This record gives sequence, structure tokens and C-alpha cells, in this order.
Amino acid sequence: MLVVEGGHPLDGAVTCSGSKNALLPIAAAALLTEEKVTVRRVPDLADVRLILNILEGLGCIVDWDHGSASVEIQARELPSGEAAWEDVRRMRGSVYVLGPLLARTGSAKVSLPGGCVIGQRPIDIHLRGLEGLGAKVEIDHGHVVASVPGGRLQGAHLYVGGSSGSSVGGTGNIMMAACLAEGVSILEGAACEPEIVDLGKLLISMGAKIEGLGSPRIVITGVEALGGCEHEVIPDRIEAGTYVIAGAMTGGRVKVEGCDPGHLAVMLARLHEAGVPLELGPGFIETQPYDPRDPAEGLRATDVTTLPYPGFPTDLQAQWMALMTQARGLSVITEKIYPDRYMHMPELLRLGAELRRQNAGTAIVQGGARLSGAPVTASDLRASAALVLAGLVAEDETEIHRVYHIDRGYERIEERLQGLGAVIRRESDPWQV
Ligand code: EPU
Repeated sequence: MLVVEGGHPLDGAVTCSGSKNALLPIAAAALLTEEKVTVRRVPDLADVRLILNILEGLGCIVDWDHGSASVEIQARELPSGEAAWEDVRRMRGSVYVLGPLLARTGSAKVSLPGGCVIGQRPIDIHLRGLEGLGAKVEIDHGHVVASVPGGRLQGAHLYVGGSSGSSVGGTGNIMMAACLAEGVSILEGAACEPEIVDLGKLLISMGAKIEGLGSPRIVITGVEALGGCEHEVIPDRIEAGTYVIAGAMTGGRVKVEGCDPGHLAVMLARLHEAGVPLELGPGFIETQPYDPRDPAEGLRATDVTTLPYPGFPTDLQAQWMALMTQARGLSVITEKIYPDRYMHMPELLRLGAELRRQNAGTAIVQGGARLSGAPVTASDLRASAALVLAGLVAEDETEIHRVYHIDRGYERIEERLQGLGAVIRRESDPWQV
């Protein structure tokens, strides 16, 4: 568990890691070629270990050099076209192996991931897209069993969004598969997230022909084979955003280095609206010291609505809620991607936050609460981050249990926060289940 002692002002610099959500599809894309793919700026995270284990299970040779944060992946032969439930159930991102496996080998068997704590997370968009490229897809005993009757996928004009708008994973999976399809594929309603742009750049370095990255219309001209390449993953915008919010919450000076402020434009605009003083420059964001509780100059309640990129990211919604517990006034948070992604609310209530659900997808935060430390339980990755943030301003100690969630997406969070002056330690968890 993590134990945070609240009330210590933060001051210092923290360097951003590589993006987990860019790395996961990028690692899977190595399945598309028999040549070696080298990836740099690889974050040392539980989810990264998991995708690399899955790739090894499929027959890849994986060499992860932790010292230089780089991984070499070579999928010379792929004798096993199967990703088992045991792995997929632990991380939904494992489903990224489906498109590349199918395109490269003509068949794939990947366990269906099922729901998770942030809500129902179907993969119908992925499956419909692959069917649109000519694959035959069946669900058999909890597995997706896919094959390519003609031997090679065929380019097609597809809509790759769903009822909540674009899908990051669906776009990535279909884009990877279309790179080896015969002919031109047009993906309409594609995700514009920087992680998808980064995946596309890797694919282009491997020899793929892709246009329109970062727009909702991606055009891919299939090629017969892809080759190896070297690629550096983009910085993790969600990790960066979390540390910026830590600075804003505590009123400290926190400089987040090695990030791309352009990827966080909407969050930065909302922070400006909320009265948080910031300095930005190439590759950095720095919160400036201020008193969040100052009645005139302090933190103001500011509404957010989560939306696909470039909208406010759902992966920063829980952290924003923690911030708003300290603001002056009432704020409304609307979750448009995962309407049930509010598992952090009961835990924030235990710390003394004043919050309530309004209706599906909406939460109201009454700011200005004096938080006091208590034991709380993390339910998912971003919810855990919100609890750590709340702990930074709560009186006395906050114990955050089940922190394995946080280790899925934040590299050595306690060391980084200690470097900023936070009083936080990791202890063995007597309640660990
Ligand atoms: N959706 C469908 N059908 C599909 C796929 C998605 O209905 O086949 C729905 C989802 O239920 C959701 C919406 O479409 O309502 C968007 O889902 P999306 O496919 O974009 O999400 P994802 O690819 O499964 C990635 C990140 C998530 C992040 C979301 C949204 C990875 C590995 N995961 O998930 O990250 O919340 O995009 O930005 O990239 C996290 O890092 O904590 C995390 C959960």
C-alpha cells in the first residue's frame, strides 16, 4: 500500500515516462513483421510486462533493456496464434494483438476481455472492422476466433466509431490490420488520440502507407510486407497531467519535463479557467506557487466533460475530481466515455470530500472540503491516482490499498512524488487480496 502524509508543499521537477497507451499497440505492431522492431522510452510498468509476456507466448523474441528503457521485439515465427484468457483478462490492451496476428498469419485466437471496473468495454468495433476487411470472426467458448478465408485481408471503406464516438483501440487494431491488406482502406470516424498518431508513425517507419493520422479519416494503402524499425514512444500525457494536477492541488511549483503540452491543451485551458498559475515551454509545464484557498485568487470550481481527443481525457477525470474537492464553488463533471467511471467517489467521500452523482454520467463536486486521511481502496488505475492526489492535501495519513492498480500505469510514483517533496512511502499491504 501507499501511505501519504498530507499537507507538504510540492516543489521540484519530474520527468515524464513513455506513454503506456501508445506502447501497448506499438509492441503489438511488431507482430506485423519478421524483422526486429526496437522501441525506446519504454515505461517500466506492469501492463508493459504483460503485453511483452503475451508477445513471448506467441513466439516473439523480446529483449527489454531496463537501463536504456528500450525493447527489441522480433516476431520471426509465430507458431502459436493464441492469446489466452489468463493474460487478456488482466489487461484489455492485450486485444491489440488480434489485428496484427490476423493480418500477418491469417488466423488468430484471442480471449474476449470482458467488462472491467470502469464499465462495459465491448470490442464490437474491433471485430466489425476486421470483418469489414474480409475476416471471418466467431465467438467460441469466450474466445474470438478469426481467420482470413482468402488468405489476405482486403481493403475496405469502414466506419470505425461507435455510440460513444471514436474508439482508440478499435482504430488501432483495424489500422494495423489494414496495413497488410490488399488495396486501399478508408477508416471513417477514426480516433485522433496522440497514441494512435504515434502508432501510425511507427507503422509508417515499418513501411506502411498511411495518410490522415490525427484526423477522423485515415487512408491506408496496404503493402505486402512490413519491415523492422526503431521508434521512440511519445511522453505519457496522462502521467504528465496527473503531476500537473498534483502541483495545482498543493499550490506548489511542479515542473513536468519531457512532456508535450500540446497533448494536454484542453486540461491546461481548464486549469487556466480554474485560476491555476502555469508556465509552459517546449517540452515542459510548470505550476506556479499560489494559495489554492485564497478567496480571491485561489482555485475556482470549473466544469469538465470527458470526450474523445482533443476533448478532456477520461483518464484525467478522477484526478480532476480530486482537484475540484479543493476549489471554491460547485463543479459539474460529465463523463461521456465511461458513464460509470466513478468508482473513486465513495473513496473520496471517506476522505471528507463533498460529492454526489446527479444522473448517468454526471457528478457534482462541492469544493472547499477539508480532507482528512483515512484508509481507502483503489479500484482502477486512474482512481488510484486521484486518491494519491487527495492524500497530498488531506490532514494526517491516507493509506491507499490495492496499489497494484497504480503500478499498471505510473512508473515508481512514490519515488517521483518524494522527489517533489511529498511525504509518501510504500508498505506491504496487510489487506492485500
Ligand atoms: N467501445 C465500444 N466498442 C468497442 C470499443 C469501444 O462500444 O469495440 C466504447 C467503449 O466502451 C467506450 C468508448 O467506446 O465507451 C471508447 O473506448 P475506446 O475503444 O476508445 O477505449 P480503449 O481503446 O478500450 C483506451 C485506453 C483507456 C482510455 C480509453 C479512452 C488503452 C490501452 N486504453 O481504451 O485507458 O480510457 O482509450 O480514451 O489505450 C487507462 O489508461 O487507464 C485507460 C483505461
